[in-house]
Amino acid sequence: MKIPTDVLEVLTDGRTIISGDRIQIPFQLDAALYQRVNTMLKDVGGRWDGRKAVRAHVFPYPVEEFMRACLAAGEWPSRYEQGWYPTPPPVVFEMLEHASVRVGHTVLEPSAGTGAIAEKAAAELGIVDCVEIDARRAHVLRGLGIARKVTEADFLDLDPLAIDEPYDRILMNPPFEQAVEHVTHALGFMKDGGTLVAVLPESVTWRVDRATERFRAMVTEAEGEFVRLPDRAFAASGTSVTTVLLVLDGEPGGPLHTHGWHQRQPTQLDLFETV
Ligand SMILES: C[S@@+](CC[C@H](N)C(=O)[O-])C[C@H]1O[C@@H](n2cnc3c(N)ncnc32)[C@H](O)[C@@H]1O
Repeated sequence: MKIPTDVLEVLTDGRTIISGDRIQIPFQLDAALYQRVNTMLKDVGGRWDGRKAVRAHVFPYPVEEFMRACLAAGEWPSRYEQGWYPTPPPVVFEMLEHASVRVGHTVLEPSAGTGAIAEKAAAELGIVDCVEIDARRAHVLRGLGIARKVTEADFLDLDPLAIDEPYDRILMNPPFEQAVEHVTHALGFMKDGGTLVAVLPESVTWRVDRATERFRAMVTEAEGEFVRLPDRAFAASGTSVTTVLLVLDGEPGGPLHTHGWHQRQPTQLDLFETV
């Protein structure tokens, strides 16, 4: 999102203090301009703290370097552009009902946001690893202290065969525009016999493009299940998109392209050796 010129002027004003986890604007703005500044700062995770000793927007991550990059670029990565819609607690509850995370299960959350799902999986005593592309949210995840490992990366760039151990459970609410890609990729990190539970836009159950049709065929073949969620399940996170839960069990030797399936594929080297 482009930073409006007058907001940019406020944030680059020599009197504005951007330091640590807060931004302080120690001069008067008219109401309309304050609203615009506030809208931007809230969108990047800031919260106004009006207490006398603070009187600043406070962020759950170190804001200085991030804000310097935004001001230099004249824009900021909107939470919506990155598809950040935290999963509301009732949906997480339903996911866990389907996933049955047991003590000691390894759990992957491959687009973990600020941990709405990961935190509850950890509360079930799962051993949780998180991946998150956004540096600010990865910082928040580390601060929660619930994950064994937080990887700041594009999940789609990670190689399923580079991990030590595949996961018992995969719990995810990926960015909706790339939901099919994310789930297909995530299966490569799952154990045979594991379970994947994903929040997906309901459109995956009817879209007729080739990738979505292929995805549904895979779900049918693996006897997976789409479970409809209430119409406004994500209203609290700012979207009215209708959603479903996908539940997929990776039967050993079954059709899903799990970690085991990837390992069983012949490598280029094997091919040469058989010639
Ligand atoms: C719909 S939100 C869900 C967040 C979290 N899973 C939850 O349920 O609250 C999607 C998250 O995926 C992250 N994301 C988007 N693309 C990604 C990618 N390629 N790799 C890893 N994370 C990604 C976004 O930054 C955002 O935090």
